[in-house]
Amino acid sequence: MARITASVYTSHVPAIGAAIDLGKTQEPYWQPLFKGYEFSKQWMKDNKPDVIFLVYNDHATAFSLDMIPTFAIGTAAEFTPADEGFGPRPVPKVIGHPDLASHIAHSVIQQDFDLTIVNKMAVDHGLTVPLSLMCGEPAAWPCPVIPFAVNVVQYPVPSGQRCFNLGQAIRKAVESYDEDLNVHIWGTGGMSHQLQGARAGLINREWDNAWLDQMITNPAICAQTPHIDYVREAGSEGVELVMWLIARGAMQDVADSARSVSVRHRFYHVPASNTAVGHLILENS
Ligand code: DHB
Ligand code: FE
Repeated sequence: MARITASVYTSHVPAIGAAIDLGKTQEPYWQPLFKGYEFSKQWMKDNKPDVIFLVYNDHATAFSLDMIPTFAIGTAAEFTPADEGFGPRPVPKVIGHPDLASHIAHSVIQQDFDLTIVNKMAVDHGLTVPLSLMCGEPAAWPCPVIPFAVNVVQYPVPSGQRCFNLGQAIRKAVESYDEDLNVHIWGTGGMSHQLQGARAGLINREWDNAWLDQMITNPAICAQTPHIDYVREAGSEGVELVMWLIARGAMQDVADSARSVSVRHRFYHVPASNTAVGHLILENS
């Protein structure tokens, strides 16, 4: 059967993608950030999954105010990098896994989560920047990726608790797939940032780090964080962090308290553009 063996969490700042694409990663501003992902790139090579289930948010790129799915699963055979105004990023196209994605859609909908099924979708920096951070600049991404888009842009956005519960349903779905596949689940976006208004540029190191501590040891408490706390403490775009709870909910210690997870890597850096960059790699031990 298929199994989730690890989860990865990372911010997705678009300027990080631009720094990679324009060859600026060794500039003084960027060098400390990319240093924090050196371990991660090696870990990806040493622990190459068969499939990545990548939870991210679309930034009014594939979707718009015309149509706002709360949870959307990409079931296509491939997904092209989106043009977000400066041409598409020069990164490989994303190869999907239609069979596993369809199975997960079926199982998760049967578990009472209403997913939108997406058979054609361009993917924006929310998905491609985490891939670049974890994989560098390969000619092709190392494995198929199932994009899973969450609405964190237009209220009402899903609660952290619902995201955490959804992660548990995704784990069950993966474990009911017949083929032996090693699946990683990624939760992306965050950490503290606010891109507009009087508090633009807000970064809250203390809150971010306390939230990272709690995500490792007691994610059920993180799941109870109300939206207003993210907005007040981590800025209006800090609410992207609910996506991390989907990945965390899919880890084995949530399903069975006798089992545990181990922290393979933890990194925090401020600022990247207007955002605090947080990163974790957790393995089912
Ligand atoms: C920035 C961060 C984001 O998460 C995003 O989607 C767009 C911009 C930023 O810090 O510049
Ligand atoms: Fe964002």
